[in-house]
Amino acid sequence: MCGIIGAIANANVVPVLLEGLQRLEYRGYDSAGLVVTDSGLKRLRTPGRVNDLSKLVEQQKTQGVAGIANTRWATHGEPSERNAHPHFSAEEPLIAIVHNGIIENHEHIRNYLKDKGYIFLSDTDTEVIAHLIALKLKEVNDLFKAVCLATAELQGAYAIAVMEEAHQESIVVARHGAPLLLGVGKDGNYVASDASALLQVTRDIIYLEDGDIAVLSNHGYRIVNCLNSQFGEPVNRIVHESHLSNEEIGLGSYSHYMQKEIFEQPIAVANTLEMLSNAQSIAPNLFGSEAEKIFSETRQILILACGTSYHAGLVARYWLETVAGLPCNVEIASEYRYRDPIADPNTLVVGISQSGETADTLAALEYAKRLGYRHSLAICNVPESALIRQSELRFLTRAGPEIGVASTKAFTTQLASLLLLTVTLAKMRNRLSPEAEQRMLEALRHLPVALQNALKIEPEVKIWAQSFAQKHHALFLGRGVHYPIAMEGALKLKEISYIHAEAYAAGELKHGPLALVDSDMPVVAIAPNDQLLGKLKSNLQEVYARGGELYVFADADSQITSNDNLHVIRLSEHAGLLSPILHTIPLQLLAYHVALVKGTDVDKPRNLAKAVTVE
Ligand code: M6R
Repeated sequence: MCGIIGAIANANVVPVLLEGLQRLEYRGYDSAGLVVTDSGLKRLRTPGRVNDLSKLVEQQKTQGVAGIANTRWATHGEPSERNAHPHFSAEEPLIAIVHNGIIENHEHIRNYLKDKGYIFLSDTDTEVIAHLIALKLKEVNDLFKAVCLATAELQGAYAIAVMEEAHQESIVVARHGAPLLLGVGKDGNYVASDASALLQVTRDIIYLEDGDIAVLSNHGYRIVNCLNSQFGEPVNRIVHESHLSNEEIGLGSYSHYMQKEIFEQPIAVANTLEMLSNAQSIAPNLFGSEAEKIFSETRQILILACGTSYHAGLVARYWLETVAGLPCNVEIASEYRYRDPIADPNTLVVGISQSGETADTLAALEYAKRLGYRHSLAICNVPESALIRQSELRFLTRAGPEIGVASTKAFTTQLASLLLLTVTLAKMRNRLSPEAEQRMLEALRHLPVALQNALKIEPEVKIWAQSFAQKHHALFLGRGVHYPIAMEGALKLKEISYIHAEAYAAGELKHGPLALVDSDMPVVAIAPNDQLLGKLKSNLQEVYARGGELYVFADADSQITSNDNLHVIRLSEHAGLLSPILHTIPLQLLAYHVALVKGTDVDKPRNLAKAVTVE
């Protein structure tokens, strides 16, 4: 889960590497490092962040016309300078490597290399690749061939960029199971984990595919694919023009990406549902040309996802069962991939992921296919991602780049997409009258405005955040379709404020967790005016009667009034099926403002990274 970048040009590339690393820092921020050509290969590494690396560069006046760099999320070996990339092969010929991914057979290769006398200076799996390439290089005396031979022995996922001290006129890159793209520039060529890192120099992007190995020089590039032959077959990969704008990837007037992304939700949802703006009806082809046929055969849904995306799946289960009348299972991808479920070929498998790179979700989807599931749909925010490519049907959440580690706009756009899926399936199953279809279209078109209104409660939430920030634990309660929203609220709070938070279905409280309730345990409840409101109020009474302090997000018509230990913030009147989407907003704002009061690193919470590309 690192970010990597490489550049080879006619001028100093160090500023390009540093700017690129800043853009990639969301992928990991345990350490940073670079290698550039400077007569030999000059390496700078820091256990700190990219800003610390920039200071080192300045102090040492580091320059070079070719280089590779990495911002790391530690997997093998603690975050430290010793484990920071780039890694060198300790023996001649000297090569340097940066890597994103995880090598599963690194132990085996390490032992083999140790037997050959190689000495390891770090605990990383990456250093294993460095030595293996160096060993092959001794045999074939050509870096490109050495990378072909070495990568053929690797199991796992990797995107690598490699330089050789003796041949500084090229960089060799390879990908398998981790994203990597080339940037074709006027005065040089580039490689990175994601396009945002390269916009500073070019918009011409080539997405490498699994098995691709490319050689970059300052005047060109050559790509081969090595899946079926030792030194690869030349391949032509299309050059795409990236339409990412600097506004989309910059902070603008906001203090944090999370804040920006919370407030972008109305426009993110509007973009995601743009195709409905003039639509008279809802059509399955929004999900792909084969969708009508596949949906007509669908008898059940299986959703696979992790984290926040899993919570979106849990909400969708209520909608799919109630509105579309389809049985639905929602599985945590990391668990599903190690179970022995029974496949029903008439099930549509839906993978939900912001990044489309989450290793567990990708593996669970592949596992489901092997078990005999025939049809898959990706709901994803990244068009060129592995999830999109692995799935038969696709629906893009057009949230724009989500950079804050805590997922916000990806979640609400996933929910909007899943509601659209539900309504589409309901229509195809004759469970939606033409009038109901028109009402749903209206509701979905109104959603961005409703989100805008929900954001207006921020000043009230800010006040709550002051007292919340003093607490060490919190309970989140919801019922029915709002229970997963409570789970999402608890995840947001713990993720960025480090306050321990747990979510419970409110009816479960008396079966155990009520024992935790005292004046030090704030209890957050989501109280929409739905058919479960009466039941929820009884559950809240159980808390109140035991001296618990309640923080309730209610609908305007929920008829709950503030009291001594009962604080209420009201949203709009009950929004029917849209209610869980709107009730997400106050919980995101609460987590954000509590984190601000606590002074945590909101966009880069400790120990985490944005795209979890390892198991
Ligand atoms: O990219 P994905 O949606 O597949 O990511 C899944 C989770 O890692 C992600 O949602 C994570 O839980 C978020 N950091 C939560 O805010």
